[in-house]
Amino acid sequence: MNKGNLRRATIKEVAQAAGVSIATVSRILNSQSGVSEALKEQVLRAVRELHYQPNAVARALKVQKSRSIGLIIPDIENPFFPALVRSVEDSAKAQGYSLILCNTDGKPAEESKYIKFLFSKQVDGILFVGNSAFSEADKWLLNVQTPIVLLDRRIVGLPLSTVMVDNQAGAFMAVEHLIKMGRKRIALVGGKDTPTNSERLAGYKQALQAYGIAYAPELVTQGAFNFDGGYAGIERLLRAGCQFDAVFAANDMMAIGAVECLAKNGIAVPDDVAVVGFDDIRMAAWYKPALSTIRQPVYEMGRLAVTTLLEQIADPAAEPKSIMLCPELVVRQSSGERGDHDDKK
Ligand code: RIB
Repeated sequence: MNKGNLRRATIKEVAQAAGVSIATVSRILNSQSGVSEALKEQVLRAVRELHYQPNAVARALKVQKSRSIGLIIPDIENPFFPALVRSVEDSAKAQGYSLILCNTDGKPAEESKYIKFLFSKQVDGILFVGNSAFSEADKWLLNVQTPIVLLDRRIVGLPLSTVMVDNQAGAFMAVEHLIKMGRKRIALVGGKDTPTNSERLAGYKQALQAYGIAYAPELVTQGAFNFDGGYAGIERLLRAGCQFDAVFAANDMMAIGAVECLAKNGIAVPDDVAVVGFDDIRMAAWYKPALSTIRQPVYEMGRLAVTTLLEQIADPAAEPKSIMLCPELVVRQSSGERGDHDDKK
């Protein structure tokens, strides 16, 4: 957290600036109910203007423990996230905590709404899979007495603990594998609007450069991190007349959409075009052709995120830490040898 030399504003000064009692300020910062929105905004404006940060000791004295944590995810339809929820819930339950699950569809307004909702439910901590850095108006969220740990993706500028996979290394592995399989024109069907995508794009570029292959912007498309995004990405490349013999898709659902679009256009996988995804969702092994992909240690990620959050609930003044897990290349039929029709999983 910011350890600036500026004298910290006190809760008394916040109360005076807002024209309310100290008890009212405390009630609002502890997300207790029974306070009007107008009064809440009046106090939070004073918090922002005075850059008030509750005393870390005061946090530790926050005695109401609800024995619950919140988990905010961006896309409940992407099988990667239910697998992550499974891990978080197992780990939380094992520690005697209940879980409140929120889905935002990756919309910043929904992210902000759900964080405030979870505060109002007095969760003891929040695991946040976010798409956007908090807006200036929401920066006050970092000052309240509820620890937040970023899961699956970092958000530049937020001094919070983060548990995620090394996206750039995973993308590098995917493209390096395609190059070693003899593919020369590798398209990227990328996601968009997330820190995840920029890291996977960086790994794609890094692998091309490492193997002396020129980066061709026309081979890169960006879209939604789902089946439709993958399908539309291949459509755009084909309509533009792009020639390519491999596709790295930024996640498995995009890879499946890409394979479907290629098939619709009479393009065989892997004979004509090899395909690699990212995540290793359950269906990747059962899909036809079985999908080569980059496996995320999703269960370990969820477990470590819960452990990190509970550590911060116990010690709110703890310095943020970053845990970066290693991905793994899983080779299956979709990027095998040309003519590889082996159905092994
Ligand atoms: O949300 C898009 C992707 O980000 C998921 O598929 C998973 O890879 C996560 O890291």
